[in-house]
Amino acid sequence: MTPRTTFISRGGSQVTEADATFLELARLAGLYLPSLCGGRGKCAKCCCHPRGPVTDPSPLETELLSRDELAGGVRLACQARPLGEVEVALEEEILEKGGYTEVAVTPEPPVEKAFLELPLPAPHDDLSDLERIRQTLGRPLWAAPPVLRGLPAALRDAGFRATVAIWDHGAAGEELLAVEGGDTRGRAYGIAFDVGTTSVVGYLIDLFTGREIARSSRLNGQQPWGADVISRATHALEAPRGVADLQAAAIGTLNRIIADCCGTVDPREVYYVTVVGNSLMHHLALGITPATIVVSPYVAVSRDPLQVKATELGIALPNAWVYFLPLIGAYVGADTLAVIMATDLDESDEIRLAVDIGTNGEMALGSRGRILACSAPAGPAFEGAEIQHGMRAAVGAIDRVRIQEDVRIWTIGDVPPRGICGSGLIDALDQMVRRGIVDPGGRLLPRPKLDGKIPPKVLERVVGQDHSWEFVLSWDPRVVITQDDVRQLQLAKGTILCGVRILMEELKIDTTQIASVSLAGAFGNYVDKRSALGIGMLPAAIPMDRIQGVGNAAGQGSRMALLSRTIRRRAETLARKVDYFELSKHPSFEDVFIESLAFPHPPTRGD
Ligand code: FES
Repeated sequence: MTPRTTFISRGGSQVTEADATFLELARLAGLYLPSLCGGRGKCAKCCCHPRGPVTDPSPLETELLSRDELAGGVRLACQARPLGEVEVALEEEILEKGGYTEVAVTPEPPVEKAFLELPLPAPHDDLSDLERIRQTLGRPLWAAPPVLRGLPAALRDAGFRATVAIWDHGAAGEELLAVEGGDTRGRAYGIAFDVGTTSVVGYLIDLFTGREIARSSRLNGQQPWGADVISRATHALEAPRGVADLQAAAIGTLNRIIADCCGTVDPREVYYVTVVGNSLMHHLALGITPATIVVSPYVAVSRDPLQVKATELGIALPNAWVYFLPLIGAYVGADTLAVIMATDLDESDEIRLAVDIGTNGEMALGSRGRILACSAPAGPAFEGAEIQHGMRAAVGAIDRVRIQEDVRIWTIGDVPPRGICGSGLIDALDQMVRRGIVDPGGRLLPRPKLDGKIPPKVLERVVGQDHSWEFVLSWDPRVVITQDDVRQLQLAKGTILCGVRILMEELKIDTTQIASVSLAGAFGNYVDKRSALGIGMLPAAIPMDRIQGVGNAAGQGSRMALLSRTIRRRAETLARKVDYFELSKHPSFEDVFIESLAFPHPPTRGD
């Protein structure tokens, strides 16, 4: 008998019947299980609790899981397989809901709709269906085969009273995009996507009014092949169907978001889609190999804007065109371009800084005159990856930490802690630096060195010996910050600060000339600005009131492009205008990076 696995999640249950690991089965079912190492049995992030008969623990599981965990039924999804009827409950992730600071855009709908009452075919009137539409409308439309296939039924079912949706291709004429029974002139929709390495957000928008009808956010279905762009690229280049796997996963995620958003809207009335994403996500969504992006001298296959039929990519919108915004460079993609537009950096007389911290950090600095951009490979530490008790912002994640006479923690959902997410990590690190538990060089000091310098209850939390000290945030369940965690976060924050400082050096400005700093992405919204400045992620001299979280600015830029042809032209001009450089190849990189690693606070008590 083929084993049968039922995955249970908030969205219901999904059954798979196959002999495979739980990770592979989840992938088959289009479900997400964390798997930072891509299923190679290295990260131990794919823990699950299968209920039912399963294979015995593999050597890798006995190595990576504790005896207690194994006794409690915890298994690694990339190792364990079902042997019969098994149930697996999936953890709920709290996804970024994609909120943004809205920028007003005057809609310029890409489609025009006209209601036609057509003369019925008759013995003396042998015009074709398409000619009949052309003649009544008085315009020389053309139509592609998929529309022609549905045309006879569409007209006859509607008694030849129908609405046509027309797409203007400029010099290539006008396309008959759809024929809809009755008068549907008031309905035309589009979806703006922001395809991130970790999560994908889609906004369903009324193309006539610009109003947002619905939004949905889901984890990128490429997660099973690793958390960062390098793991994805490795799969794309090494597996026989690597690019196809990743393209299918990306398109599958878009289709799930479309299904989420189109509850009250007919997907046939969605005519336009815009997509922004980093260069790797862009290439993979289009089924293009990322080989040239990840190998020196790091070039994209194409940075041009691209418009393609949704059906050609397998996107479940039969009448839509999809517009991919142009890329700036191999490591600065259309998402950064969208952030620049959403923060109005390119139309500002004052110098502004925009930093988008996701799985990587991209940043742009400048004004109307000149804009510089670079990508800072900070890695996914701020998303909780590669951190001993790191986790994404889900229920049970510590998201705020204060250290005074003792440690105080807050968790998402106000439940016992299960781990710590990005905003909690930055808070914890800031507090540890302020109390002198971590020195400016990033060393977690041994307990004897702290004796008498920090309150006794805090001192008790510094545990370990020799070179492996750690700081206990929660005793039970146990959540700690290790020396390695501090180093990972130090590298990540140092990379971002280094990027900002080199941008400033290139533009020959100092911090007093930066009028505002926009922190984009979920991280920018949730992180405590004081803590971010406290650990030296941004230049310390930037006043706190000039820093603001702007939410999903990349998604906002995608929405702006969806609504307006003028904005799309702006994006195309801007993509060629932004000066992009490879941070690690900059002559000052090594020196500035080393300087940027230091934590700025001297140890102070009671701060
Ligand atoms: S250990 Fe299973 S995915 Fe990493």
